[in-house]
Amino acid sequence: MILVVGGTGELGGRVVRLLLERGLGVRCLVRPASDAAGLEKAGAEVARGDLTDAASLRAACQDVDTVVSTATAITRLLGGARGPSIHEIDELGTAALVDAAEEAGVRRFVYVSYAGISSTVGTPLEHAKRAIEDRLRRSAMRSVIVRPDAFQEVHLAPLGRFDVANGKVALIGSGDAKVRWVSTDDAAALIAAVAVEPDPPAVIEFGGPEALSRKEAVAVAEDLTHRRMKVQRMPAPVARLAVRLLSRRNDALASVFGGGLLQSGPDATWTDEPLRSRGITPRSATDYLRDQVNHLPR
Ligand SMILES: NC(=O)c1ccc[n+]([C@@H]2O[C@H](COP(=O)([O-])OP(=O)(O)OC[C@H]3O[C@@H](n4cnc5c(N)ncnc54)[C@H](OP(=O)(O)O)[C@@H]3O)[C@@H](O)[C@H]2O)c1
Repeated sequence: MILVVGGTGELGGRVVRLLLERGLGVRCLVRPASDAAGLEKAGAEVARGDLTDAASLRAACQDVDTVVSTATAITRLLGGARGPSIHEIDELGTAALVDAAEEAGVRRFVYVSYAGISSTVGTPLEHAKRAIEDRLRRSAMRSVIVRPDAFQEVHLAPLGRFDVANGKVALIGSGDAKVRWVSTDDAAALIAAVAVEPDPPAVIEFGGPEALSRKEAVAVAEDLTHRRMKVQRMPAPVARLAVRLLSRRNDALASVFGGGLLQSGPDATWTDEPLRSRGITPRSATDYLRDQVNHLPR
């Protein structure tokens, strides 16, 4: 049995479906008020619980071989929820999940962190991801730390202030760092693969096939749409100050500014090899943008 925590999410949902397609038994930990109908219909078992409720984590981990954790509070917080915070969910809640998995005798723990975590920006999300990576390194379980680069569907989309339809984009700092924007489908395919492959690496940092800075991605979008995008700039020192000032009051927003700073340097040193070596042919950022442009209302 594989327990997926975060199965109602964009990445987690795709992982669940891929595991079910392989005929594997999947249980999803789903918060009491969240809609699990899609997961149940797809064939997953649903265990109601919450990362803030240690007893629910212990129950969900019973008879589980592998835990896959994609959960994060950031999306809900950016959507206006007043809590719980990244510290409470991504750090303390996920640490409680690691404890529960260990206690239940789980053998493998696949944890989704992000590429570039070693650049110190100082965001609450970075702090949480590092704490869980460290916690897993000390664990007797086999841990697989998966670090995907920025998702195309988030960072090259209106959600990530890259709005091709309205011709508007936000740039934090220079926007000159090479990023290997990766599709959520490709990241999910890799996570589903390492959940079951016999001898997965301890850390997998990867991205899509194209190393393109955010500025270059703007140029690609302009070429495809034949019109200029309006660029709203935030200097890097202002973003750094925002990270510092917001870290306590709004840890999700502080983490977004920090994520933007990552797109100003350093360049991605990872590649798409971890995808290709698993038979996944990754979609490029340019192909993603072309697809967005082709679907714009005319
Ligand atoms: N976006 C990027 O570019 C990027 C890049 C690299 C890595 N990542 C990582 O990839 C993962 C993103 O996954 P995603 O796209 O699936 O995110 P998502 O769509 O925001 O989903 C988050 C999931 O976490 C669950 N969750 C939140 N709070 C919870 C709690 N208290 N107890 C149990 N579950 C809880 C949510 O459940 P509800 O539906 O009940 O809220 C949801 O299933 C994150 O770990 C992120 O850091 C993202």
